[in-house]
Amino acid sequence: VTMYTQAMDIPSGDRDEPPAKTDEQYEAEFEAKLARGDFIEPKDWMPERYRKTLIRQISQHAHSEIVGMLPEGGWITRAPTLERKCILLAKVQDEAGHGMYLYSAAETLGVSRDELIEALHTGKAKYSSIFNYPTKTWADIGVVGWLVDGAAIMNQIPLTRCSYGPYARAMIRVCKEESFHQRQGYDLLLTLMKGSEDQRAMVQDAVNRWWWPSLMMFGPHDSESTNSGDSMKWGIKRISNDELRQKFVDATVPQAQLLGVTLPDPDLKFDDAKGHWTFGPIDWNEFWNVVNGKGQCNEERLSARIRAWEDGAWVRDAALVHAQRKRRRDCVAA
Ligand code: 3HC
Repeated sequence: VTMYTQAMDIPSGDRDEPPAKTDEQYEAEFEAKLARGDFIEPKDWMPERYRKTLIRQISQHAHSEIVGMLPEGGWITRAPTLERKCILLAKVQDEAGHGMYLYSAAETLGVSRDELIEALHTGKAKYSSIFNYPTKTWADIGVVGWLVDGAAIMNQIPLTRCSYGPYARAMIRVCKEESFHQRQGYDLLLTLMKGSEDQRAMVQDAVNRWWWPSLMMFGPHDSESTNSGDSMKWGIKRISNDELRQKFVDATVPQAQLLGVTLPDPDLKFDDAKGHWTFGPIDWNEFWNVVNGKGQCNEERLSARIRAWEDGAWVRDAALVHAQRKRRRDCVAA
């Protein structure tokens, strides 16, 4: 009796399967890709430390976008005109989208959204120190757009050339929208500076409070930067913290002059020999205090995020049930 078996195609010992690659071979391929300027994609082999530092940076970048909605969000209902309200609404909505692109880019590295959010809520993950400062007046909204989004653009444009494909591609769309963010902020300030003495004083007060925290956005000095070595080697960081900070100062001082405000740094002066604006020392005690949770608004920001996450649980649950039902309907229909 001949038995028909569904014999699996079990390779016999003599089939010429290529030998499995060693980690050294994978590492060499990874380095060669970086050297060619190719993107590393989610399915590519990558060193565990490369993956981990990308999850660190991309998730903290995403957290910054979402927490960054809070300082401006509170002013949407207080915008002085309908046009300004619509502009601010669009900007804050953009930041939510930036957070979504970036969380999605982080998830391609094998980490879940819940893990990322949990890291933020427990304080294990950071977000940009700049968002722990209060937005006290309407002029703050203009200064945040001009300086904070201006610094963000300076720091994010090189990330469009980051070696990790999903991050670089997310940055292309983010940077286009950031340009609108900076422009609307500067335009708001130009309007105020053409206004009353009080309005001009309000702008100067906001510049005084936001200038130094904006310089801190670029991170510690290169000599103190614990991640720059790897990040520069792996093509994640293309330009160093100090170099980007200098580019930002060089670009922003002329804008401040055009606006008619003074920057709160008595040491600021143009060095003809270097071709750069030299500036005074940054208060790194303040920086680390804020990074370590002791800023003016750290508690308020984190509890607002935790409350929003808890209040929004029903929306996430409903969306998941809806998606499951749709998948079942699509399966039945197929
Ligand atoms: N706020 C909080 N933490 C900061 C910081 C800041 N401004 N600058 C540096 N740090 C942290 C780093 O995260 C790192 O801590 P970690 O190892 O626990 O993550 C530590 O200080 C040492 O700094 P490094 O220079 O070694 O860290 P990086 O190499 O990661 O460089 C960075 C810091 C330049 C911010 C880099 O992470 C980066 O380019 N990130 C992507 C861009 C980003 O996140 N920008 C923040 C603002 S986003 C924004 O403004 C949105 C806009 O729409 C308003």
